[in-house]
Amino acid sequence: MKPSILVTRAIFPEVIERLAQYFDVDDNQQDAVLDAAALKARLAGKAGVLANAADRIDADLVSVLPGLRAVCNMAVGYNNLDVPALTAAGIVATNTPDVLTETTADFGWALLMATARRVTEAEHYLRAGKWQRWSYDMLVGVDLYGSTLGILGMGRIGQALARRAAGFGMTVLYHNRSQLPEATERSLNARYVSKAELLEQSDHLLLVLPYGPESHHAIGATELSQMKSTATLVNLARGGIVDDAALAKALREKRIFAAGLDVFEGEPRVHPDLLTVPNVVLTPHIASASEKTRKAMAMLAADNLIAALDAGPQAGQPPSVINLEVMSRRR
Ligand code: DGY
Repeated sequence: MKPSILVTRAIFPEVIERLAQYFDVDDNQQDAVLDAAALKARLAGKAGVLANAADRIDADLVSVLPGLRAVCNMAVGYNNLDVPALTAAGIVATNTPDVLTETTADFGWALLMATARRVTEAEHYLRAGKWQRWSYDMLVGVDLYGSTLGILGMGRIGQALARRAAGFGMTVLYHNRSQLPEATERSLNARYVSKAELLEQSDHLLLVLPYGPESHHAIGATELSQMKSTATLVNLARGGIVDDAALAKALREKRIFAAGLDVFEGEPRVHPDLLTVPNVVLTPHIASASEKTRKAMAMLAADNLIAALDAGPQAGQPPSVINLEVMSRRR
C-alpha cells in the first residue's frame, strides 16, 4: 500500500501526478484554505505533507500526528513550521531555497523602483482623471541611480539584490547576523555596517532577513526615526519584521519618503492604516510568483517529500532539508 500524503493547497497538476506515482494523494485541488482544525483532520493518518507558508505546523499539531514523517514547505521561508518540535518528533522538514532567488530579487527591484518613483500612485492619479497638465513637481520621486542601497539580511536573495545594484551605480551597505567572507563582499561590492549605520545611511533599505522572535518588529518606530526622511523601505521577507502600524504612521507623517510591501503581519489581512496612506506600494506576497519559479518550487517540494519518505531516485536524500539531524538520526 502506498503511504498517504496531503497537499494542503491547489498546485500544478503535473506535481500531483508526480506525487501520485509514489503516494495516495489527498490533494485539496479545490483550494479550500485549511484552518488548524481542518489541517489536523486532513493530516490524520498521513505520512507527509506538502505545505505552503500559510500552513502553521506547530507543536500541538505534531503531538497528535504520530505517523507524520515529513513536512515539505513550498517556500524558502519556514517560520510557519515549529522546527524544534518537528525535529524532536523525528519529522523531516524541508524548504525550497535557490530556485526562487533570482525571481524574488527581480520582484524586489520592481517594488523598489515602483516605490521610489511612485509608479502605482501615478497610475491611480491618471486613472482618476487627475492628469490635466504637465507640472514640474507632479509625482516627483527619489533616484535609485548613484544612491546608497541598504540590505538587511544578506543571504541568497540579499546577494542577488546587491548584484542588481551594480547596474545602478549604487553604493551597497549591508547588515547580517554574520559578515560575509571578504571575497564575497568584494564580488558584490558590498560593505558590512552596523544596523544603526545601515538605517542612517541608506537611501533605500531592503528587508530580506528571515522572520523569527529575534527579528519580530526589527523595524519599528525607533528604527524608522533613524532613517533619512528621503529614504524608502521595501519588505520582501515576512510580515512581522516591520511594525506595520508604526510604518503607516511614519509614512503619513512623511518621516520616510515611501515604502513597498509584499508581506504583512497577519496576511492576507493588511493593517487598515496602510490602506489609507498614498506613499506605499502594496502587493499580495507575490515576489516568487513567476510561472517558471512557482513550478520549480512545487517540484522541489515534491522531490523533497518523495525522498524524505524514502521513495524515488533520491530516496532518503531530500535535496533541501532544514533539520539535517533528523536525517542523520534515521541512518
Ligand atoms: C518564500 O518562499 O518564502 C516566499 O515568501 C513564498 O512564501
